[in-house]
Amino acid sequence: MKKILILFAHPALEKSRVNRILIKELQKTERVTFHDLYESYPNFEIDVKYEQKLLLANDIVVFMHPMFWYSTPAILKEWQDLVLEHRWAYGREGDKLKGKYFVNFVSTGGKKDAYQSGGFNQHTIRQFLLPIEQTAKLCKMYFLPPFTISGTHSIEKAEVEKHKERIHKLIHYLQNDSLDIEETKELDTLNELFEKLVKE
Ligand SMILES: Cc1cc2nc3c(=O)[nH]c(=O)nc-3n(C[C@H](O)[C@H](O)[C@H](O)COP(=O)(O)O)c2cc1C
Repeated sequence: MKKILILFAHPALEKSRVNRILIKELQKTERVTFHDLYESYPNFEIDVKYEQKLLLANDIVVFMHPMFWYSTPAILKEWQDLVLEHRWAYGREGDKLKGKYFVNFVSTGGKKDAYQSGGFNQHTIRQFLLPIEQTAKLCKMYFLPPFTISGTHSIEKAEVEKHKERIHKLIHYLQNDSLDIEETKELDTLNELFEKLVKE
């Protein structure tokens, strides 16, 4: 069974409606290490060696965050800048992350149909995450399309709870190698494949 590291980033969790619910119980999930970056590093003083140790101990790396300015909250950029060191994560001898999986769990204020060509935001969520996708690939990881929770401004609490359950199912599938990774390659979101699997 694969081990998952969830790097969670929300700078104002006290104001959160959605992620606050989504993260409930993740701490208690078996073989999941839930790591709240803003809580651990309120001054952005990231412990690089500790972060690298966590990465080595896990098979799947998740960035879990709200979308901020078509990207991640700032600490996840700082984390990448410091933790993904040359000759460790990338470069000729940098193979410590080789073969691990990478995925974003991302919530967006924008609704699903706003994230498409011709839509309000013109591009898909996956397209906005392109620098992260290529970073994961440079680090020889398998990049999976994001799992998305969209339309957060008007989402009902019951729908958020549903997404929470889906996240737990998704974690279970990922841990047990039940997803056909090849099949996910061209998808915009992991939700699509997941919806097929889960027949709700
Ligand atoms: C600083 C900031 C920037 C944001 N940028 C975006 C954005 O680029 N696209 C989007 O769809 N939503 C954006 N939002 C909305 C958040 O993604 C949304 O409020 C969040 O996913 C809701 O989750 P929460 O209830 O856990 O905070 C932004 C919100 C803030 C505060």
